[in-house]
Amino acid sequence: MTTSPPTPHQPALNAPLLSIRNLRLEFTGQGRTVYALRGVDLDIAPGEILAVVGESGSGKSVTGLSILGLHGKTATVTGEALMADTNLLALDAEALRAYRGRRIAMIFQEPMTALNPVFTVGYQLFEILGLHAGLKGEAAERRAIELFQKVGIPEPALRLKSYPFQLSGGMRQRILIAMAIAAGPELIIADEPTTALDVTIQAQILRLLREINETEKTAIMFITHDLGIVAKLAHRVAVMYAGEIVELGTVAEIFETPRHPYTQALLASVHSAARGEKLHAIPGAPPTLTALPAGCAFAPRCKLKTDACEKTITLQTEQRRAWRCIHRLS
Ligand SMILES: Nc1ncnc2c1ncn2[C@@H]1O[C@H](COP(=O)(O)OP(=O)(O)OP(=O)(O)O)[C@@H](O)[C@H]1O
Ligand SMILES: [Mg+2]
Repeated sequence: MTTSPPTPHQPALNAPLLSIRNLRLEFTGQGRTVYALRGVDLDIAPGEILAVVGESGSGKSVTGLSILGLHGKTATVTGEALMADTNLLALDAEALRAYRGRRIAMIFQEPMTALNPVFTVGYQLFEILGLHAGLKGEAAERRAIELFQKVGIPEPALRLKSYPFQLSGGMRQRILIAMAIAAGPELIIADEPTTALDVTIQAQILRLLREINETEKTAIMFITHDLGIVAKLAHRVAVMYAGEIVELGTVAEIFETPRHPYTQALLASVHSAARGEKLHAIPGAPPTLTALPAGCAFAPRCKLKTDACEKTITLQTEQRRAWRCIHRLS
């Protein structure tokens, strides 16, 4: 049984683009239940870049996937993901299709698997333009070339005729970004979109996403385990641990005055790595999501642990910051 308490709402924005409330996701199978998301509350403002960070298995990907109903059949989702007054989690498959790709687009880590190997990239982009923008024939081709130019693909008319295997990883990711922005979405959910790329290409793709955010005012939910990327790219940060958001704040707040011991430990590991010291890994491992401890899930690994931490967990807020810890740091 999960023991996490009911979660009070995190500080609200005036007019969020997307409001996630008490999002819970459970996978059931083989006689056990995985509590993958345990009451996530999160607002994304129009035009903001929100980074979602945390160790492997903390629930970053399933947060993005569940918003669009892509969590798979073995999962049960409850809570709300509100866009205007519509709860996306309550929509049937057909109604959700009006959002997916059109108002919310997704970009994944591995561009090769997201593209169909047997069709040209042009054909795949035309399909999206037909479906979401009602464009066909020459109009679709003109728009496709424009989109390829926008994402920095040289010789766009020629490249439309390429198959995915004829392109580099960086080019394929640019094509997926072109597809993602084709319908002018209000939000892009990007799940580790640069992890499979080398460092130089990674920097170029991050610059491109930043440009899209600035010129198109597209909000981006950027999922990553890389705090270096967060510092360069994001406006706000949500830190996840064991299926919960343990801290939420602006980039400056998170990096300069982290208030959750887990955020502090994550930052310490990055700082020591940057100084060339041995990586200061956080001792211990995240809890198994089938059998969670009472109270704070980070307590078993936390230097500040007291008896109270094992019984209770407190959400503290200050304006738009929030952190889930009974201690008061910085
Ligand atoms: N289909 C599934 N069935 C059962 N458990 C799942 C399934 N998909 C994800 N999980 C579990 O849900 C938890 C959250 O997974 P998720 O993929 O969101 O992690 P993540 O933070 O994205 O990690 P990573 O950094 O490795 O991508 C993990 O414990 C994972 O094992
Ligand atoms: Mg993931």
